[in-house]
Amino acid sequence: VIDDLSAWEILESRGRPTVAVSVTFRGGATGTTQVPSGGSPGKHGGVERRDGDPRRFGGLGVLGVCRTIETEIRDAVVGRRFTGLTELDRALASLDGTADKSRLGANATLGVSQATAVALAAHRGVPLHRLLSGCAGTSERLPLPFFNVVNGGAHATNRLRMLEFMIAPVGAPSIREGIRWCAEIYAMLRHNVLRGHGNINLGYEGGFAPDIVEPEEALRLILEATVDAGYTPGTQIGLAIDAEADNLVADGGYDLGGPVVSTAGLVDRYEQMMRTYFVFSVEDAVAAPDRDGWALLRSRLGDRLQLVADAALGTQAANIRDAAGTGLGNAALIKPNQAGTVTETLEAIAAAREAGWTAMISHRSGETGDTFIADLAVATGVGQIKAGAPAGGERVAKYNRLIEIELRSGDLPVGPPL
Ligand code: PGA
Ligand code: ZN
Repeated sequence: VIDDLSAWEILESRGRPTVAVSVTFRGGATGTTQVPSGGSPGKHGGVERRDGDPRRFGGLGVLGVCRTIETEIRDAVVGRRFTGLTELDRALASLDGTADKSRLGANATLGVSQATAVALAAHRGVPLHRLLSGCAGTSERLPLPFFNVVNGGAHATNRLRMLEFMIAPVGAPSIREGIRWCAEIYAMLRHNVLRGHGNINLGYEGGFAPDIVEPEEALRLILEATVDAGYTPGTQIGLAIDAEADNLVADGGYDLGGPVVSTAGLVDRYEQMMRTYFVFSVEDAVAAPDRDGWALLRSRLGDRLQLVADAALGTQAANIRDAAGTGLGNAALIKPNQAGTVTETLEAIAAAREAGWTAMISHRSGETGDTFIADLAVATGVGQIKAGAPAGGERVAKYNRLIEIELRSGDLPVGPPL
């Protein structure tokens, strides 16, 4: 039984307002969470509600969301007996009544849902990941971390067109070793970028943003830093990209910085990136509406390359089922604040699994010190997480939580299930 509920406005890592929520149970257990915020072009996920008052934060304030939590949601949930998180989340979804949480705001519903999960774990005296794996009926695994080390696109001010370039310690025996490897590579990259480009500008997720243009330049920098740091690309370190291709669409194809390429030309480039730069995972490799592009990509590279869909899914189970039916990719990016509740996040992951897809838990460009997604990744056993650079408090909070879980849970398997 929830005894009290409160919400207040805080800042996320880009300096924009977001929501913090605290839930207290009868008996005294409490849970607090902070909701992240993103900006990718997907039109399919839950809607983040904002005040729209130009006198505060340029309209981005969330006082209305906080008020909704402390009035309408409080009235609906305080004092009621819920059998568990699922029932609470169902109540939130039906109270909202829309398909995209636009009435209450997905930032309101996710905040209440996550805070309740944290309080429930405290109430039962179990770690959050154990509570969540119980809810989902999944077996736990430590996720392979994907560290964003170069940023472009909408998350940086350089001319590099693709959004995120990541390294993953595919050969590391533990989370701790993998984090160390990638932090060392990040430090080497910092050194090399400063020497070669004269600045260490950063993008939103902590990746360097030197003034390069074509994606292969970023991959080359990363590969050099990997080798300079003493690691072997391929066996120890794999590379990954979030192309956010919806933002690359140009007249006649895709703009990667050089001459516009056709969809087939883009697929050729990815194939080359796999061969030369050990790229093994590409997110939003073609634009969401480019159905022919997805089909071509899947038929040509789908058996060798993880093709993560993000924009077209919006972390909705129904969209994942549709996308799997039409062969849009072979993996789902999972952003809880797009699903709108923890339960719907778990349902999206289950839909991916049933379709034979892999899944990756994801941070957002606007993050806080909250570590919910680290526990979620362990709980659901999806085996993959992207949470930004191995630097910056809001990014390392997630990795540091994984270290803690690894140390406390002993013998959990690491990485994607085979
Ligand atoms: P966002 O970007 O958090 O700004 O939406 C992340 C992504 O596209 O994966
Ligand atoms: Zn993305």
